[in-house]
Amino acid sequence: MGRRPALSKLPQDNRRRLCLARGVQSAANMNVVVLGRTKANPSTANLVNALTERQVTCAWLDPLQTSVAVGDPRLRSEGRRLPPPDAVVARIDQGATDHASVLLEHLESQGVPTFPSAASLRLSRHKGRTLMALSAAGIDVPESICLRSTEVDQVIDDITGLPIILKTARGKGGEGVFLAESRGTARAIAAWVERDGGQLIAQRFVEESRGVDVRVFVVGERALGAVRRCAQSPGEYRSNINVGGAATRFPLNDTVASLAVRSAQALGLPFAGVDILMSHRGPLVIEVNSAPGINGFSRDSGIDAAGALADFITAHLAGARVA
Ligand SMILES: Nc1ncnc2c1ncn2[C@@H]1O[C@H](COP(=O)(O)OP(=O)(O)O)[C@@H](O)[C@H]1O
Ligand SMILES: [Mg+2]
Repeated sequence: MGRRPALSKLPQDNRRRLCLARGVQSAANMNVVVLGRTKANPSTANLVNALTERQVTCAWLDPLQTSVAVGDPRLRSEGRRLPPPDAVVARIDQGATDHASVLLEHLESQGVPTFPSAASLRLSRHKGRTLMALSAAGIDVPESICLRSTEVDQVIDDITGLPIILKTARGKGGEGVFLAESRGTARAIAAWVERDGGQLIAQRFVEESRGVDVRVFVVGERALGAVRRCAQSPGEYRSNINVGGAATRFPLNDTVASLAVRSAQALGLPFAGVDILMSHRGPLVIEVNSAPGINGFSRDSGIDAAGALADFITAHLAGARVA
């Protein structure tokens, strides 16, 4: 069966006529690719379902099983050559960032809208660069240093004191975040991170929010809602759910909502999970996640995040059809 050409590949006039013929007001029958690892990921599955319910034709591809030929907007995946997509939504794990950004960059060069862009994906995947972009946008972050392990003592003396937070630039789910109570531990962690090939970030430990953070779910220019995540085990300083944290709905005020939206915008992300520490000097942003967990957030907040994302994407596509 013949497939329709991607709108983005058509000249403006043809595009407009085709859009009118297809029905401008909805994204029905648009062809969207969702890039995400493991077909078993329940959050991505939920997003795919929500898009399908909105009559979007959705293909879910593993980025690490997908390739592109230079100059050709079609994706090749597991032996198939797919029709050029009208848009691509990327929910990418750390391990797939580099290849996924190549795929996104190529699609962008072919005029295919991507959520997010390759540049925003890469920025959000590096905690140091993320903090720099946030700070440049006037957003408060904890005192942070991108350093070499040889500088740890100096940084403790001059900036953070003890205890000190050390992070790998590309960690996730709390796995690459360490709290060192002593200089010896700090040195050992820093050397280990470097030997492992990771880039090192030191941060002042925000003691007053030990084991607690706020995750705000941003969709477009709106903060959809938030949860407060709390570590449950004694001595745990990380609030992430996959290291045992528990979340409850957090009532958003205008300050936190606007901070979260500005943080997503600073990274150019169309949707994001923004992690915030409530410190004595006000809210501090520590991370902006380009592929926030959807199902856990919905369960803990009572908000249909997959539906909100699908509505945002379809509204954008409907608009893009005549843009
Ligand atoms: N500077 C800090 N001060 C206090 N707690 C922190 C700090 N940085 C991180 N944490 C704790 O560790 C958790 C994970 O840190 P984060 O930078 O968001 O990395 P990840 O990508 O692994 O989630 C945070 O949710 C928070 O509970
Ligand atoms: Mg985090």
